[in-house]
Amino acid sequence: MSGVAASTSFILNGEPVPGSVSSARRLLDVLRDDLGLKGTKEGCGVGECGSCAVLIDGEAALSCLVLAGEVEGRAVTTIEATADDRVEAMRRAFIEEGALQCGFCTSGMILVASRIPAGAGEEEIRAALVGNACRCSGYASIVRAIRRAHAAEGSPRGVETGDTVSVGRDVPMIGSDARVTGREQYPHDLAPPDGCLHAATVRAPVACARITSIDFARALATPGVVRVLTADDVPGTNRFGLAEPDQPVLADGWIRGASDVVALVVARDRESARAGAAAVELTLERVTPVWDPARALDETAPPVQRDRPSVDGRHPNLLAERTIARGDVEAAFDTAHAVVEATYRTGHVEHAFLATEAGLAVPSPDGTLRLHVSTQWPEADLRQAAAALGEPYEALSIVQETIGGAFGGREDISLQILLFLAARACEAPVRMVWDRAESIRGHGKRHPVTLHHRLASDAEGRFLGATADVLIDAGCYASTSRQLLDNALAQIFGPYDIGSVRAAGRAVLTNNPYACAFRGFGVNQVTFAMEQQVNRLAAALGIEPVDLRLRNLPEGPRVLATGCDIAGQGGLTRTIARAVEEAGEPPNPSSGDGLVFGRGVASAMKNCGFGFGFDDAATAEVELTGSGAIVRVGAADVGQGIETVLTQIAATALHLELEAVVVEWTDSRTCPEAGSTSASRQTMAAGNAVLEACRQLLEGGGEEDRDRPRSVRCTWRFPATTALDRGRGRPLAAFGWATAVADVAVDTRSGDVRVLRLVNAIDAGRAINPLLLRGQVEGGAVMGQGYALLEQVPLVEGLPARCGLETCAVPTAVDAVPDIRTVVIEEPEEIGPFGARGVGEATMIAVVPAITAAIHAACGVWIDEIPATPERVLAALADARG
Ligand code: FES
Repeated sequence: MSGVAASTSFILNGEPVPGSVSSARRLLDVLRDDLGLKGTKEGCGVGECGSCAVLIDGEAALSCLVLAGEVEGRAVTTIEATADDRVEAMRRAFIEEGALQCGFCTSGMILVASRIPAGAGEEEIRAALVGNACRCSGYASIVRAIRRAHAAEGSPRGVETGDTVSVGRDVPMIGSDARVTGREQYPHDLAPPDGCLHAATVRAPVACARITSIDFARALATPGVVRVLTADDVPGTNRFGLAEPDQPVLADGWIRGASDVVALVVARDRESARAGAAAVELTLERVTPVWDPARALDETAPPVQRDRPSVDGRHPNLLAERTIARGDVEAAFDTAHAVVEATYRTGHVEHAFLATEAGLAVPSPDGTLRLHVSTQWPEADLRQAAAALGEPYEALSIVQETIGGAFGGREDISLQILLFLAARACEAPVRMVWDRAESIRGHGKRHPVTLHHRLASDAEGRFLGATADVLIDAGCYASTSRQLLDNALAQIFGPYDIGSVRAAGRAVLTNNPYACAFRGFGVNQVTFAMEQQVNRLAAALGIEPVDLRLRNLPEGPRVLATGCDIAGQGGLTRTIARAVEEAGEPPNPSSGDGLVFGRGVASAMKNCGFGFGFDDAATAEVELTGSGAIVRVGAADVGQGIETVLTQIAATALHLELEAVVVEWTDSRTCPEAGSTSASRQTMAAGNAVLEACRQLLEGGGEEDRDRPRSVRCTWRFPATTALDRGRGRPLAAFGWATAVADVAVDTRSGDVRVLRLVNAIDAGRAINPLLLRGQVEGGAVMGQGYALLEQVPLVEGLPARCGLETCAVPTAVDAVPDIRTVVIEEPEEIGPFGARGVGEATMIAVVPAITAAIHAACGVWIDEIPATPERVLAALADARG
């Protein structure tokens, strides 16, 4: 850089930087790599997420956009600073308000928040945070924390010393102190003392092609490069996949989608690895792609996976097909008083967890490999890695580093097998960090769904019949799309009583990004359609939407319209009543200046646990140490706070103070398998396993026996479930229940929709930790708002276009609904620990149809394709005008 000295120095957290650092390096890299201050995070590298925020001369700035030379002689404050009162006040307030979950955004958020002037109003606070993305919290708790810090009041949360009943209390998340001081260690922060090699992937410039050659001579000649690995170097099956092994570790002949990796370059530093990757020359032959799932269903469509036999001998891309039929549905429609019919569409959505994929694989002297990474399901990763690489399962292990958000997107493998492969090939520690663009390209997306729906009722609104035809775009690999199809179909008509139904669903392969688990697992899409149908029918019949729901919701154990035997509907009807009550008076319909207002309501059910005959279990070991207890259970804490919840369960069960219990969950060698942190299952699965182990430890002994060191290991299983056998049996064991009420303002001139108020009522069974529960409910609500109004992944020929958080339209603090109200119902779940049920997913599902119903109430149009962008709203208004 002209005019800038080659080296520079500045004041860092009140002290001069020892020595000098390169002027031309990003301040972020200097802080993290040269000075070892890892509290400053990189979430995007292009100024979109705010995770790297620091203070420069007291003003917030993004260290990814600042060169070190630009801070010559100036004062830089990072999250590690200990002498800034405003930062310290904000730290305490964030903890007290539960304003941190995964914590990856927290350091940047706290530093920016610390400079918001006291007395700032809601809008001013949100405007100041607009550059700081948080995917977990929904921002409401962050705003409360800032107000709390400004008010310098509020009583500390937690459990009193001597209290041995922590279940039901507002316990701040374990690890909060480390998160607010920058000490928490994510996989990106690992720096082995003796150094390590670095890996970079080679990806094709297209999403569909045949590979005719890979020339890596120039890559090997690149300074610093030590190995280039291709499919020929993979010693096992070279295949992985969560439900079936159809994804190559390294592409062997074909490119089928965005996530495919062609080669892996290992070098002495990250820059050399990337330079080497860029030097690999691919010769590709274009083959006919298939982007449209309807076209993919043709018998003549080009096969996405040429080595996959057709499931029916005719359709090359049909992955799964299911039909549920009960009663005489056509007769029901013939006799109906009212019928509503529509086609619903949803698109690809990005998980956008703030911490991109990163990891470090380390060979041990005993020949085993240890991987430091973030994952939702370590043992599933290990099983896939062992088969793909031809390694014994016991030769591989995982150490969970702090997980910077997941939302389903870390259930599938990303870079785990690549790192094991590289470390084995080089017999050296190998590290890899994906940037935001690679993260968006490298993991799956929410399933796009097209769904044609008919619903019939009598004159009083009692549902007589319903049909649904569902087409799911699974993308280029199977992942869990078969399972998602089952899950969606089992819950496709919601909790309602409907005499006759038919639902037909197909999941089809295309060359689009593979679709995978994402908070809600298929229930979001079908609930959007069903609840919109219910609201449509209510409008057609002139019946209040709430009344129509209650008319079709019988209490007690029964068989759902889809044939699923359920034990009851928890507190669903109470969530409806309480949500409406909490929402208060609806907004006035029109302000007269192009703005119109409306209110919508919708309900949701969501399974807890996998179901469909899967042996769904968790194992926990509890050891009494004499002074307390150690709980070992491999349940991944993805920021939702399961570590804290399990600590509370164990402490309460053992009549111990919270501080006397330690939960260990990170090491696959020592922590028993608890299964995936997904399907809203861990509070119930791991929670019950821990509770049962505690009970067994106390059984037969008195209070004093608690001090005798010993341990017990227990496995807890969800009740047995059945396959989705054309709509009979009990495919799902338990459910969460929710109702949302949304108030919106629609600008009929621009098509812009603002959510003004969102009430999210959840039946949690028992709120083990109300503070953390509220964070889940608010975070899910804003994720639902984003899904309804903003979020989609633009694709250009199967590749995500301009891969960034802004491109994917992840909600900012300004987008997020300002008035969000959480209502918690506690209708005990029979099989839940202390009556608790999982709610992580139910929090977002009802929000989407509540918002689209509110849009209809405001301006009279039904939006059947989400997100409800201004363009779609304007088009619907134009259609309505004729
Ligand atoms: Fe903000 Fe996870 S806590 S991104």
